[in-house]
Amino acid sequence: MKVCCIGAGYVGGPTCAVMALKCPDIVITLVDKSSERIAQWNSDKLPIYEPGLDEVVKKCRNVNLFFSTDIETAIKEADLIFISVNTPTKTCGNGKGRAADLKYVESAARMIAEIAQSNKIVVEKSTVPVRAAESIMHILRANQKPGIHYDILSNPEFLAEGTAINDLLNADRVLIGGEETPEGHQAVEKLSWIYEHWIPKQNILTTNTWSSELSKLAANAFLAQRISSINSLSAVCEATGADVSEVARAVGLDSRIGSKFLQASVGFGGSCFQKDILNLIYICENLNLPEVAAYWQQVIDMNEYQKRRFSQKIIESLFNTVSDKRIAILGFAFKKNTGDTRETAAITVCQTLLEEGAALDIYDPKVEPEQIIDDLTHPSVTESPEKVKKAVQIHSDPYSAVRATHALVICTEWDEFVDLDFKRIYQSMMKPAYIFDGRKILDHERLQQIGFHVQTIGKKY
Ligand code: NAD
Ligand code: UGA
Repeated sequence: MKVCCIGAGYVGGPTCAVMALKCPDIVITLVDKSSERIAQWNSDKLPIYEPGLDEVVKKCRNVNLFFSTDIETAIKEADLIFISVNTPTKTCGNGKGRAADLKYVESAARMIAEIAQSNKIVVEKSTVPVRAAESIMHILRANQKPGIHYDILSNPEFLAEGTAINDLLNADRVLIGGEETPEGHQAVEKLSWIYEHWIPKQNILTTNTWSSELSKLAANAFLAQRISSINSLSAVCEATGADVSEVARAVGLDSRIGSKFLQASVGFGGSCFQKDILNLIYICENLNLPEVAAYWQQVIDMNEYQKRRFSQKIIESLFNTVSDKRIAILGFAFKKNTGDTRETAAITVCQTLLEEGAALDIYDPKVEPEQIIDDLTHPSVTESPEKVKKAVQIHSDPYSAVRATHALVICTEWDEFVDLDFKRIYQSMMKPAYIFDGRKILDHERLQQIGFHVQTIGKKY
């Protein structure tokens, strides 16, 4: 069998690498319109940082896994094609700021329709609105050449960044949605056969196409809702003297609730939670279900509130002014073990501090300096990119980032931050020295003994 995957990003890359590792009898070609990205996949420095990915790619690359910009040949030769392109929120027109922009999915479908000379199974791997498969089908069938048959499947991806390889190798479930026709069932069987190389058959769930598409949006909405729920309670904890970690533990030990995804934080980030919930809200509004839309909107509103609340706490603690103060930001990625900064809470924190006149010293072990500058000078973040560039310094070492600063802010929960030499850090900082732990990873009592003023999420000091 030959497989092609269109879109060599955070999902396409790790997914195809693991598939190639587990299916030596399948040849997989990962294509992208970005020649720069493909060159990186073919180099020693992969375009994304993901623990364990380098090893898998090295084992399979140019054996049964190929990275190419020759989209035409890959489509022509493939029996099965994954569409794994980005589906960002629309930035203009109908549904601006809410609906998913399907232009990349559509362009992939149009390429397939134009190039295909034999039957294809087309698999939606990107996260899409319910009934998106209908649009793909429409495009493919309207451009169908005689004798060519298309099957469309939905096969959403549930991996999380930072743990992608493990998530793919040991997936809780694989979800495949297809048409309820004999041809549809056959196509589902073929895709299932690929996953059966390493996933137990009982963990491969098959549903109708629309259930599969909606389940992906639902899963992300549920996960984000848990974070917003615990974050909402973190505000109650700070006002009452309760400790959100103790509350999360007590609540999470109820087996009906479970302990995962109850870590209060500065707010969730990442390319998908917000985008997918907005997508769900837009669908509900269009279906004339305003109460359902309003319910999910709250998950996003609570996240915005949490990011703002944390940023305000920093300013208030520093005598209500950070103007001309230096503040160290440790961690810029949206979570540990990734270099991805899409929708990271660190952007909101930095933006607020910069607007108040602070100078920032930023360190992240995996985010490229250019990426941080790009994010903080984006037109949606500032009107004066030159001013921002002057106020921001990027460091390659945490100790140099904290030197002579008034405060240190933890925005990402990188393990290495836990083991820093805080006595040394304290000595090098301005006094009084403040730590704002937006991830609740540090030993606060020890820090207080050293002399720090400590503030965190969901606990009053
Ligand atoms: P990404 O931006 O990292 O990668 C998408 C790639 O598709 C880009 O390299 C882009 O150049 C390429 N592309 C776009 N249009 C193309 C075309 N017509 N032809 C060839 N290449 C094209 O995006 P991602 O994070 O991998 O996400 C992809 C999809 O998977 C999204 O729908 C997302 O919601 C979903 N998803 C993402 C994650 C995640 O952790 N990032 C997890 C699960 C699902
Ligand atoms: C999330 C989902 O977990 C994946 O299942 C899904 O496939 C993916 O979105 C997607 O569709 O893109 P991801 O965003 O990569 O994965 O990472 P998560 O581990 O879910 O973390 C998201 C954000 O929530 C991070 O900022 C993280 O720090 C934050 N978080 C997570 C918390 O604040 N508290 C928690 O308890 C858990």
